[in-house]
Amino acid sequence: MPEEREIVMKLWRGDAGGGAFETYKLPAQEGEVVLDVVHRIQATKAPDLAVRWNCKAGKCGSCSAEINGRPRLMCMTRMSSLPIGEITVSPMRGFPIMRDLVTDVSYNFEVAKQIPSFTPAPKPPGGYRMSQVDIDRGQEFHKCIECFLCQNVCHVIRDHEDNKRVYAGPRFFVRLAELEMHPLDTLDRRAYISEAMGIGLCNITKCCTEVCPEDIHITDNAIIPLKERVVDARYDPVAWLGRKLLGRPAPLSAVQAARYTGAASSAARSPSARAVPASPETASSTGLPAD
Ligand code: SF4
Ligand code: SF4
Ligand code: FES
Repeated sequence: MPEEREIVMKLWRGDAGGGAFETYKLPAQEGEVVLDVVHRIQATKAPDLAVRWNCKAGKCGSCSAEINGRPRLMCMTRMSSLPIGEITVSPMRGFPIMRDLVTDVSYNFEVAKQIPSFTPAPKPPGGYRMSQVDIDRGQEFHKCIECFLCQNVCHVIRDHEDNKRVYAGPRFFVRLAELEMHPLDTLDRRAYISEAMGIGLCNITKCCTEVCPEDIHITDNAIIPLKERVVDARYDPVAWLGRKLLGRPAPLSAVQAARYTGAASSAARSPSARAVPASPETASSTGLPAD
């Protein structure tokens, strides 16, 4: 009879006041993902364990965590893909801890609310028409499941809580790219992207792209094109000369200006200090190159 293999999993247990890793041992089962093991621990050893999940199919974006220090979806990480030995599962480090593996990701929803929404031109006779190439370009951005793993790993906010006031983060650059590249949208958000969403703070390290479970090329296809558009808007020599001669600032639409103010003064986006200091495991590498 073959010897039964044992799983040793260390789960971060605690709340905003503090916590530590607890070790659980249980027999291995064929074909499991990390979320299966966490659920077995919850069912047999730790009924009060808090863990967020919904679909178990990599589509709801709820089960984001750091597995062996690397940001991943628990439901899409096969146990067989991890190195043999102890496995650590800790909450995302970029957001305040609520309890155990659950973090407060409401910062992201506050940013989402401030983005000027899709604003199409009035419908022409015969209806809207779009070419296939424009549909294809936006399709990649539609794949986002809002897991916020890219937000979690982006050093601009992961290591600098204060920046949450002035920086949207990679998930929202994807959203802004989707809007900016939409051929039917009529708003020009370029000044807004630069000054209220802080795209200049991104130094294109691609850490966000590396962790995206939907393989969205966040930096190459969203952030870099947005940066180029922002630069075009600001440094276009003809527009610059016109503004200089007339002594006027770059124009903003009313919607942009309103959003601007909201972003700058929003209490909801004020930094919330992470109550739980990063544990040695979570404080260590994310498995990614340092930004
Ligand atoms: S490229 Fe680096 S700095 Fe820019 S959004 Fe992605 S993780 Fe953040
Ligand atoms: S862009 Fe990718 S990593 Fe970021 S929230 Fe969307 S699916 Fe998750
Ligand atoms: S449970 Fe839905 S993405 Fe993992």
